[in-house]
Amino acid sequence: MLIKDFLLGENFNVVDEAASGNEALDILMLNDYDIILLDIRMEGMDGIETLKQIRRIAPSTDVIMVTGYADIPSAVECIKYGAREFLEKPLRMETLIEKINRILKSREEEKHLREIQVDFPTLVMYKLQLPLSTAKSAITLLNKGLENIVTEKQKELLEHIDQTLWKIDATINDLVDLAKFESGNAQLEKLPVNMDELVPAICAKRESELGSKNINLSFLIDKKVPTIEADPEKLEKVILNILDNAIKYSSPNSTIKVTTTTIHKEVEGNLVPYIEVSISDTGVGISPDVLPYIFNKIKPDYSDKEKSTGLGLALCKLIVEAHNGFITAESQIGQGTTIRFALPVNA
Ligand SMILES: Nc1ncnc2c1ncn2[C@@H]1O[C@H](COP(=O)(O)OP(=O)(O)O)[C@@H](O)[C@H]1O
Ligand SMILES: [Mg+2]
Repeated sequence: MLIKDFLLGENFNVVDEAASGNEALDILMLNDYDIILLDIRMEGMDGIETLKQIRRIAPSTDVIMVTGYADIPSAVECIKYGAREFLEKPLRMETLIEKINRILKSREEEKHLREIQVDFPTLVMYKLQLPLSTAKSAITLLNKGLENIVTEKQKELLEHIDQTLWKIDATINDLVDLAKFESGNAQLEKLPVNMDELVPAICAKRESELGSKNINLSFLIDKKVPTIEADPEKLEKVILNILDNAIKYSSPNSTIKVTTTTIHKEVEGNLVPYIEVSISDTGVGISPDVLPYIFNKIKPDYSDKEKSTGLGLALCKLIVEAHNGFITAESQIGQGTTIRFALPVNA
């Protein structure tokens, strides 16, 4: 199927095609586009030259370069000229949609941040996301292009760069999210949510991580919990942050228990129903002097860990509280940890 037909079928409203670089530039003079998908190999003016011209005519349009394995050296040129993302041939439509949606979302967010006149540090952090994601793309390309050429030592170094970039990127993403919640600018997109379905579905996303540590997930899900109004995307962040910790701090061959149930809490003399989700592991546990601080952004004696930003639970707390809920932790060193969060049934 043609890419254009595919995209129109996916409800993108305007999709125009150009047969050559020159034609693309002509169309670009007349219309504004969010994203351009550009093949690095074209008849006449090549992809790189076209990219340069596009950046001149429409600097705020994002460009996704379509490249083949043999194009890696020229793909590096494209990074220099401001390509935002790379897609490898043969094109996988799911990947294309994923990249388009990610770019559209960040364009919308940037517009929103400008409209609400967010503070300067947040805007700077936000702006750092783009060069970082380009640098990550570049490293991925480089890793592929250099396969069988680099020495083991160089490969180690590349992996180190890759991990460092992961960390900066993850930290900036978490900081931007935290800043949005703290300033009251985070928007919850509330929908009817069935937690008895959502919780297992989100946990299933960690199947491979659980499998590689041979950790078993056991569910105790009350199918009768009422539907609530909540933001499922934000709740996914909460559940994955807690589950990722449980996986990270558990030993292989252990079990993580996940429960969903209705509880009642006394609020101003009335019993108020909440849906509670708990995730329990039998891992290393948290020492009593650290436990009171795990939901804080800044933790005393925080020791930096691999694949972590130290901000995950702080963000969970803000998201849960934005839903008028609460989150707690219990832990015994050497025995395990339970994190519970509860969301009001009638928000
Ligand atoms: N399930 C758990 N088991 C043991 N320690 C945990 C667990 N969850 C969180 N912690 C502790 O709380 C800290 C904060 O967690 P989090 O905010 O997710 O940051 P990190 O990026 O380090 O995972 C962790 O660094 C760890 O010390
Ligand atoms: Mg974490």
